[in-house]
Amino acid sequence: MTSTRSALVDRFGRRAVDLRVSLTDRCNLRCSYCMPPEGLPWLPNADVLTDDEVLRLVEIAVTRLGVTEVRFTGGEPLLRPGLVGIVAGAAALRPRPKLSVTTNAIGLHRLAAPLREAGLDRVNVSLDTLDPDRFATIAHRRRLDDVVAGLAAAAQAGLTPVKLNTVLLRGVNDDEAPALLRFALKHGYELRFIEQMPLDAQHGWSRTDMVTAEEILAALHAEFELSPDPAERAGAPAETWLVGGGPAKVGVIASVTRPFCGDCDRTRLTADGQVRNCLFARGETDLRGLLRGGAGDEEIAQRWREAMWGKLPGHGIDNPDFLQPTRPMSAIGG
Ligand code: 5AD
Ligand code: SF4
Repeated sequence: MTSTRSALVDRFGRRAVDLRVSLTDRCNLRCSYCMPPEGLPWLPNADVLTDDEVLRLVEIAVTRLGVTEVRFTGGEPLLRPGLVGIVAGAAALRPRPKLSVTTNAIGLHRLAAPLREAGLDRVNVSLDTLDPDRFATIAHRRRLDDVVAGLAAAAQAGLTPVKLNTVLLRGVNDDEAPALLRFALKHGYELRFIEQMPLDAQHGWSRTDMVTAEEILAALHAEFELSPDPAERAGAPAETWLVGGGPAKVGVIASVTRPFCGDCDRTRLTADGQVRNCLFARGETDLRGLLRGGAGDEEIAQRWREAMWGKLPGHGIDNPDFLQPTRPMSAIGG
């Protein structure tokens, strides 16, 4: 067992057990709340961790730092050629971490079964609309059919529960909450709405444009019977409701209007090997330099602990002096 002394604790008593690893900053979509239509200057290949480097850091996190859950993100992690091998390597670790991927599901049609065989437990899929034209407006690519096929393949392969992440944008898809929930219920997917956060590379976020958790719940209440979910929330960011008495659920992640920073249990690793102690952190801690400089596991683990010790109590989006992180979401990893 990892003692709490060697775990990833911070000065506010939180303990990070959930590691998000970004495997690439590239993406085949251009969701407006994330990236500009023309894309971004991608990380140079030489800066991106190799598959072996990723696995070495994941092993340190799991065996020395008490991480119990590893989620692979991007950009779009399915674009990473070595993904299946990375998942298999992580699944071979002891204690075996829980393993999931956050993806836009393009390509999941082919990859769901191999990923499941490699040991992946679950997927989280971004889905903001069921209308092909709206999809093209939001993501700047006409790929809704691929996403729907990817979802079906994930369920078929047993990557369950399949969770859906939806960001509602005012005047674009903010009338779609009930339709998305009907779709999720029909297919047995677990839907969660995420309040839009100021993480887009273009800095286009505005508090007044943001569709709030309260508005989303009001729209759902109009069509569905929702009751508070008796299951404990633990460190999970989503507040969940039972739909029609259960067992189906719907979640709302009110990152902005009801921040859950006090219960945060995350640590993040970027594709170029930097630890971020928060999505909104202004600083990062370089592990790639240590890795490539020949540092031992314990030295790397200690640098990671120090990075987490400095975690701030909250994201401060509502503070007048809030500054958006310099890295966009696609280069941090959801
Ligand atoms: N605000 C809220 N959610 C976002 N995501 C990406 N950018 C933002 C943002 N600015 C979501 C995606 C994906 C997950 C990784 O985070 O929809 O599901
Ligand atoms: Fe790609 Fe995800 Fe960003 Fe959309 S939100 S552009 S799917 S990384």
